Amino acid sequence: MNDAKEEIKSRLAIEDVVGEYIELKRAGRNFKGRSPWGVDKTPSFIVSPEKGIWHDFSAGKGGDVFSFIMEVDGITFREALEKLAAKAGVTLEKYKGGDSKVAKKKARAREALELATKYYQLCLTKNRPVLDYVFYKRNLNKKTVKNFRIGYSPKEGYALKKVLKKRGYTEDELEVAGLLNQYGGDLFRGRMMVPFINTDGTVIGYTARVLNGGEPKYLNTPETLLFNKSRFIFGLYQAKEAIRKTNYVVIVEGNMDVISSHQAGVSQAVATSGTAMTEQHLKILSHLTEDVRLAYDGDDAGIRATERAINLAGNLGINLSVISDYHGAKDPDELIQKSADLWKKAVESPKPAVDWLLDKYEERLNLNSANGKKEYSDVAIRLISYLKDPVVVKHYEQLVAKRLDVSVEDLRNKKLPSGPAHRLKPISKNGYEVGHAKVLEDSLLSIMLFGGDAGAGIDLEIPEDETRLDELSLIFETKFKNFSKKELKDATAEMLKKYHKARNQEKIAELSKEAEKYEDDEEKFNDIMREIERLQKG
Ligand code: UTP
Ligand code: MN
Repeated sequence: MNDAKEEIKSRLAIEDVVGEYIELKRAGRNFKGRSPWGVDKTPSFIVSPEKGIWHDFSAGKGGDVFSFIMEVDGITFREALEKLAAKAGVTLEKYKGGDSKVAKKKARAREALELATKYYQLCLTKNRPVLDYVFYKRNLNKKTVKNFRIGYSPKEGYALKKVLKKRGYTEDELEVAGLLNQYGGDLFRGRMMVPFINTDGTVIGYTARVLNGGEPKYLNTPETLLFNKSRFIFGLYQAKEAIRKTNYVVIVEGNMDVISSHQAGVSQAVATSGTAMTEQHLKILSHLTEDVRLAYDGDDAGIRATERAINLAGNLGINLSVISDYHGAKDPDELIQKSADLWKKAVESPKPAVDWLLDKYEERLNLNSANGKKEYSDVAIRLISYLKDPVVVKHYEQLVAKRLDVSVEDLRNKKLPSGPAHRLKPISKNGYEVGHAKVLEDSLLSIMLFGGDAGAGIDLEIPEDETRLDELSLIFETKFKNFSKKELKDATAEMLKKYHKARNQEKIAELSKEAEKYEDDEEKFNDIMREIERLQKG
């Protein structure tokens, strides 16, 4: 696979690949641009066409063209390889000889799942009661059934296994594909089969619904080599184009809500399948659009999910809002059965997520009582602490203060003192920038390797990876090449001091996070506090 990697690198200009994500300007032998992670104030992203590498000084990351795509798209190396191979016109098949066993296993599993999907589709056409369920009970039309490749798994215990065995698939291969149960029979039996389709259009698993009651309602493919539920987004393959066109995405709770929504003409709908939303889900979506609309329930679970999403979204530059007006229906699917138009309207008039949450808190608490005010301020302050933009923070501080009939100062005062746990929070959140030590470490390593005498006092582990070494040489060139010997020596001494301090701060931040967990365990809590004090003294 290394050959394929090199072949792709030689065919693609790194500045072209990176240039599709950020605007690059020539700066001598290199290119410069703004960090795609939105953390720089001045351009801090550098690409070296000669070395084929990039480095982001503000985010403290770097690497080659593959690591760039992995980071920016939030995908695995394998996926980046496939993406760039397609771009470079390199056929990965040719390199199969040197391929890992894992890659071969995955390929076989994909083929097995493709056959299984076709088989399930065929079984659907032959089963009258199931056709009734799909077309009349769920109101799906032919086009939808085809588009989502919906099928039916027969009731017999070994129906699929027999078919695939005949086609030459071994027990092991079916196991890897996630098609067997613990007894070696078909995992899915007597269910409506909805494939999990990857963004490249291949089937990687299923969610399977019972037809006439029974448990569980949905049976999902377990985690396999192909299916990872913390990354998979149901419906994204079918939704991608609409998301690009309308520039927003709607996240619904159920897979059937996605399917109904697409049929109703809202094809920007996706769902996280059988799991809560993760940072990886949001990261993947954030590359398509920054306008993310949640269609979650207004119940406790929906509120918690929305809070979580706000916390995750802050780092990704995502603008979150909530679609909540279902006109009494229990989910989007039910609303669509009543009126597709109402769903379309709901999707077009979402409420900013923070406003929606604050309204929910207000609905549930009595803001005329002291206790209600206290609880409201607790949750509101926590919510505001998730926000990154100072202007937005201020807006909500004012709003919350007004609802509580207190001043913004009162609200801010509540945030800080009052007990050690509260005092700790600012350190972990706003103290030393995360990655600060990493940035200094990069600089110091580059001086240690390329700075001659100036690097003598630096004792860091030398990396062996070649790309990493190239990156460090780029860092040295960009940052320190024009320094005199004396300047470099002084800068090094300064950075070493800062580095140790930053490492200390990071440890303190970690410990204060740890301490939050032990708020009820005084002994543990005090132990951690003592350790923090020790570090603070340096
Ligand atoms: P719901 O129970 O709300 O189902 O679960 P739904 O989407 O409305 O389904 P229908 O309309 O009754 O067919 C929402 C989501 O939770 C996951 C599934 O991803 C489902 O889409 N889930 C639910 C499971 O994974 N397993 C279950 O047994 C139930
Ligand atoms: Mn439903």
